[in-house]
Amino acid sequence: MSYLETTAKFYSEVAETPQIGLCCVQSSPLQLPGLKIPLAMQEMNYGCGTTVHPTELANQPTVLYVGVGGGLEALQFAYFSRRPGAVIAVDPVAAMREAATRNLQAAVTENSWFDPSFVEIRAGDAFNLPVPDTSVDVVAQNCLFNIFEPDDLTLALKEAWRVLKPGGRLQMSDPIATRPIPVHLQQDERLRAMCLSGALTYDEYTQTIVDAGFGQVEIRARRPYRLLDCHTYNLEENLLLESLDSVSFKVPIPDDGACIFTGKTAIYAGTESFFDDSAGHVLQQGIPAAVCDKTAAKLAALMPTEVIVTNSTWHYTGGGCC
Ligand SMILES: C[S@@+](CC[C@H](N)C(=O)[O-])C[C@H]1O[C@@H](n2cnc3c(N)ncnc32)[C@H](O)[C@@H]1O
Repeated sequence: MSYLETTAKFYSEVAETPQIGLCCVQSSPLQLPGLKIPLAMQEMNYGCGTTVHPTELANQPTVLYVGVGGGLEALQFAYFSRRPGAVIAVDPVAAMREAATRNLQAAVTENSWFDPSFVEIRAGDAFNLPVPDTSVDVVAQNCLFNIFEPDDLTLALKEAWRVLKPGGRLQMSDPIATRPIPVHLQQDERLRAMCLSGALTYDEYTQTIVDAGFGQVEIRARRPYRLLDCHTYNLEENLLLESLDSVSFKVPIPDDGACIFTGKTAIYAGTESFFDDSAGHVLQQGIPAAVCDKTAAKLAALMPTEVIVTNSTWHYTGGGCC
């Protein structure tokens, strides 16, 4: 059995018998006015963060949701799009598709705004998405891509890039590892399926996204997720996993490299009223300007005493330099 079959079997089991708290972080699902999440759906919250960013879902976007789970985020996306077929949710596991269908049906009775036609559940997988090229505004996946081995992750990211419209967004939430996960854990297929041993480091994860063609990556959140302790996992030292929420844009990669926004700002502290780097960045004296990490590094090298670069907040929600 391949690790993907082990994964499918695992999610078939947890579709039939929900495992409360399997992946979730210590936070309740995003609450929105007039949105009621059925209990069965909450119990199947198998995501490690959120991919639903309310301020970015204007104009009823078409959303392709990969790995539907119990349907929680599909319902949340439908809340914003509210039209038939606006959310296409894909899953290869029949039991999971059935559970999501049941849960979405239950949502109808609790949410007067919701019609089940808003979410279309389709059989399919992350490597062969059942939609045409450049046809969706958003691709979202929560706690799935971290399970994939590196070559499969690249395939899944390229497939997301294929189906996105130009400028479209890949909204993801995944565990990342604070140092490389040892091979003996990476090869444990069940741990991998449980989102505990396939995670890449932050640098590997963001580089893989860029290598798949995404020219801009924005980090929405980064927080502690799980500890792999040295006793249970046969490690020399404890290993912390974090969860990372990101939005990656299908825009061309600039000649000098992708823009990755992690919440850094640059502040001109010189004596003039502003500083212009002649590369498109004008800093008003004393006023923080959001910059991507690439620009932050360039400015810090160019003007080490007159430009102060603040640390990554790991919470970036827009605006910026590039
Ligand atoms: C960790 S769960 C996350 C579920 C959901 N995103 C959530 O946040 O609750 C992973 C989901 O991906 C599905 N899945 C497994 N293998 C997949 C694949 N190759 N392509 C797409 N989905 C897959 C599983 O059936 C399951 O629904």
